Amino acid sequence: MLRTENTSYTVRLSPDGPWAELDAWGPLGVEEGPSALDWSRRTHFITPADAAPAEYLPYGLRPFTGADFVAARPGEERGVWWEFDGAEEGEGALRLAFTDDVLGLRTVLCYETVPGTDVILRWTEHTGREELRLERFDSAAVNIPVTGAARLTYLTGQWSQEFQRTQLDLPRGTFGIGSLQGVPGHAYAPWLAVQDGDAEAAYGIALEWPGNWHITAEAEPGRSLRVRAGRVPHEGAVVLVPGDTLTTPRLACAFSPDGLDGLSRVWHRYERHLAGDRLRRPRKVLYNSWEATGFDVDAAGQLELAKSAADIGAELFVVDDGWFTGRADDTAGLGDWYPDPTAFPQGFGQFVEDIRGLGLDFGLWVEPEAVSPASRLYAEHPDWVYRIDGRPTRLVRNQLLLDLGRTDVQDFVIGTLDRLLTAYAVSYLKWDMNRPPTERGRPGAGPADRLDLDAEHVAGYLRVLDHLRTAHPDVTVEGCAGGGGRIDHATLARTDVVWPSDNTAPLDRLSVQFGFLHAHAPHVMSSWVTDAPGIFDPRPRSLAFRFVNAICGVLGVGADLRAWTPEKRAEATTWIARYKEVRDVVHHGEARLLGTPEDSTCGVQYDAGGRTVVAALSTGRLDGAPLLPGRPDRLRLRGLDPAARYRDTATGTSYGGAHLLHHGLPFVWSADHDADLVVLIRA
Ligand code: DGJ
Repeated sequence: MLRTENTSYTVRLSPDGPWAELDAWGPLGVEEGPSALDWSRRTHFITPADAAPAEYLPYGLRPFTGADFVAARPGEERGVWWEFDGAEEGEGALRLAFTDDVLGLRTVLCYETVPGTDVILRWTEHTGREELRLERFDSAAVNIPVTGAARLTYLTGQWSQEFQRTQLDLPRGTFGIGSLQGVPGHAYAPWLAVQDGDAEAAYGIALEWPGNWHITAEAEPGRSLRVRAGRVPHEGAVVLVPGDTLTTPRLACAFSPDGLDGLSRVWHRYERHLAGDRLRRPRKVLYNSWEATGFDVDAAGQLELAKSAADIGAELFVVDDGWFTGRADDTAGLGDWYPDPTAFPQGFGQFVEDIRGLGLDFGLWVEPEAVSPASRLYAEHPDWVYRIDGRPTRLVRNQLLLDLGRTDVQDFVIGTLDRLLTAYAVSYLKWDMNRPPTERGRPGAGPADRLDLDAEHVAGYLRVLDHLRTAHPDVTVEGCAGGGGRIDHATLARTDVVWPSDNTAPLDRLSVQFGFLHAHAPHVMSSWVTDAPGIFDPRPRSLAFRFVNAICGVLGVGADLRAWTPEKRAEATTWIARYKEVRDVVHHGEARLLGTPEDSTCGVQYDAGGRTVVAALSTGRLDGAPLLPGRPDRLRLRGLDPAARYRDTATGTSYGGAHLLHHGLPFVWSADHDADLVVLIRA
């Protein structure tokens, strides 16, 4: 039995065959009673292994209803028939071994609790005595008892529409999400929540893998949902070399009795744990010039923006794409990571010092895995990109992808970043990635079906990120992939913030952030205030709305400040100052999602150290007030002490905790008052 602060997870060896089964998972004590996953043990046309709530079973033993592991000797029939080979238990850890002597295979199911969280990590380790082809090697299978249709919540979308919270009820059949894009992708987050229909209790999983992946949920006939999750090998299989161990990515498993909202707080706490000591580093107010100047980057224009940004209270100035040689547009330049001498006539070092002279930290955008065909790097190393012999290479956003699985490419990227971070006083690095691998091959490297290019790219990416953390510990790293295309726990453990979406239009952003906060913590959610009406969503919202929305995470500004009136700058200055006052509550407190973007008022509540911050946003529907009789909208707060009193620091209004919990905090919206940031102090 594994115990976390509030949950327990009990596994037993099956009386029916050589596998481990889930006995119970839920609140502490849930195991005291007959297992909800116990079953009649009557099977027709299937085997007991097909019906069992098995933790992990290979094809062979589980022939019909979805195996977690599929292996074969080259040229032979697929199938593993293993026996239990012992358990090891440690503090918050469990390892269960199974061996197939015919194949010389040893598989270990690994479990580990994460201190201070309600998360259990699961993964598997496979070691072979002889060569095996692995077609499937999931990280884990997770069984959830349901009494009817399982309610699945997932985060889906596309570029500029990431993290849309979507739900379906699955009475029978198979549900699948995943990515073959070499990154988690914009279409689905590697995350799933499961509830038993309308029941509150929520189970969640998240896969720690920034490459190809799948999550498959199968509603089984005997009232249970079985979820499998893991990598998807890009050539259809990987070769397990004799003596080697293949370790699958970790699957984080979370439980909360308090619905999706409680589950989100389990994930938030886990991501604060991932941040470690770096959590305490204040997330500075960023100004990024991308939306203001695009590729039209030069020292004078950037300095003008930086001056305005400093005036309104920004603490960090980031030069995005377009600062390096040959980058007049997106057709050229990637790979040649040298500042454009024409754009920075006094030298880039001087430019950085000028920015810093304004009291701002300096940040830089890079896309280290990318190369433009029209670049010196590509001319010198055409063999560094993914390609398939005899086939054309396709361009996506006019660029190719470097094979970051190659050590020489990793060394080039590390050398480039070291050079830039040492030559200039860069304290913030935005790592972008704008094209997935298409013709993914490595000519001359031997038989393609023996290469695990997806895993090699991931290993290269993580190696470089790990290097940044150790060699440049003071540099804050932002993860970005054309918006939110590469957000997973491996990335989040090595970056400080991530960019959820290129869509910064207010109401669209609200919906992106609402979904994002189900899976990810406020301290990683980079969010910018940009100009009305935005490039995607013309629905008008006030400047206040944009600020309150962005304050829900890590505040940045991306608007063209040159065009801002003094009034607008003054308002921005006030909002930025308010953000600085509340950011420790927002980033370190407990966050609760209030309502949804479909409601007329939607918000987020943050609590820490006796302070409650409520970001409230009116999505547009007014009730006719003040022209007609009407009442204020209300946001019911949660988690407060009903017997305590809470004082609004701006208005002085005092509320009883019971009032805020029962009736909620009132908001009177109008056409030009559509957002509020309320700070309550517990008296
Ligand atoms: C995509 C990113 O998501 C944007 O923020 C911006 O950095 C552009 N790339 C630059 O090309």
